[in-house]
Amino acid sequence: MKLFVDSGIVKEIEALASLGIIDGATTNPSLMAKAGGDPRQILKEICRIVQGPVSGEVVATDYEGMIREGHDIAAIDEHMVVKVPFTRDGVKACKTLSGEGIPVNVTLIFSATQALLAAKVGAAFVSPFIGRLDDIATDGMHVIEEIVEIFDNYEFGTEVLVASVRHPIHIVQAARLGADVCTCPPAVIDQLFKHPLTDIGLEKFLKDWEKSQAVAR
Ligand code: E4P
Repeated sequence: MKLFVDSGIVKEIEALASLGIIDGATTNPSLMAKAGGDPRQILKEICRIVQGPVSGEVVATDYEGMIREGHDIAAIDEHMVVKVPFTRDGVKACKTLSGEGIPVNVTLIFSATQALLAAKVGAAFVSPFIGRLDDIATDGMHVIEEIVEIFDNYEFGTEVLVASVRHPIHIVQAARLGADVCTCPPAVIDQLFKHPLTDIGLEKFLKDWEKSQAVAR
């Protein structure tokens, strides 16, 4: 399963990418607003760092505006993926942009039927938001299970990009279900490194080694 970082903050992305664990990145208007600065420059920089798919989202809500912004986003770098919301205009824009060879990520997906429609119009990625479903007492991961099964049944090339990830268990479940990608906030990726037994184990190894060196001296 590919691991994308869900952030618009270049420093955070750079630190994680330097570990060799990041395959791409996703942003959205909220994350870009939080990052501040020139969005085009930031997206260009993220592409340089991750050298993989980087989603930049349109803010237009009409078809023509989405196409215009989509072309603009795609021109930033060869790694750019145009993110469009799942609306009628978004679906139509996905069909047009995908037909032109521009990869599209259809976002704000909350059901398997929405994912099916996005796949039918050639989306490169669909982004089901599992955390936001969990927030309203609905099993977000069940939607991932349904989408993975449907895409497998019909051999859609669309990748299932699990979004709105809140904790490491989401990542384990997504991987077990065979999702293609998980996009995670840097704080969640940091949690993947933590295990108390690793810390205790390393401390003991180093202490034992130190003791043996003291005896040898
Ligand atoms: C990913 O593409 C989304 O922008 C992101 O995962 C949304 O996460 P949130 O529900 O935590 O805002």
